Amino acid sequence: MIKAVIFDLDGVITETSHQHFEAWKAIAHMIGVEIDSSVNESLKGVSREESLKIILAHGGILGKYTEDEMEKLSFCKNEYYKQLISQFTPENVFEGVVELFAFLRAKGIKIAIGSASHNAPALIKAMALEEYIDYIVDPSEVKKGKPAPDIFLKAAEALEVEPSECIGVEDAIAGIKAIKAAGMYAIGIGDAEVLKEADIVFNSIAEIDLSIIT
Ligand code: G6P
Ligand code: MG
Repeated sequence: MIKAVIFDLDGVITETSHQHFEAWKAIAHMIGVEIDSSVNESLKGVSREESLKIILAHGGILGKYTEDEMEKLSFCKNEYYKQLISQFTPENVFEGVVELFAFLRAKGIKIAIGSASHNAPALIKAMALEEYIDYIVDPSEVKKGKPAPDIFLKAAEALEVEPSECIGVEDAIAGIKAIKAAGMYAIGIGDAEVLKEADIVFNSIAEIDLSIIT
């Protein structure tokens, strides 16, 4: 029996990948690295620190910067990203999300956010979704990011449910791997060819077949 659904945020509840990409592109350009949308694909679901390393590796300059310098670059990226999402409102919520949350609430199924983003609480607030959410995982409280299962396991623990009683919803390959590693049922949102490891894939939240949840 399903007792909780744990949602990723970026690319599942709302579209932020464009803003993450714009912010990274600016920082990368500043240090002489150009990134395109294929690099952006590999950043989805990946922590800020890991994302910077992927970009540096892409530019062939991994190892050029000290930990301190890398922290400053990540900080700048986040400041720019926060500016880009500062205009988010309930209008940014993907179609079908509020309806799905209301359906889950009515069924007594708990809802958690399992995102690698430290900006998740601010976005949930800006999009007026707080009333539906039972728990938001703080990524700094888990040892390993996605594809490790930690974020999803932390949500299950906080909601006091077993992983086998949870569904995870993700748009990134790393996220689907994390859900499966946690021993949960994985719903992929996006391209079935890309999200091969998911148990089932839908094009969008609005298309989820509710009979698989209940
Ligand atoms: C999500 C996004 C990633 C982002 C990560 C950390 O997983 O898909 O692109 O790097 O969160 O987000 P943050 O807002 O903390 O930099
Ligand atoms: Mg995502």
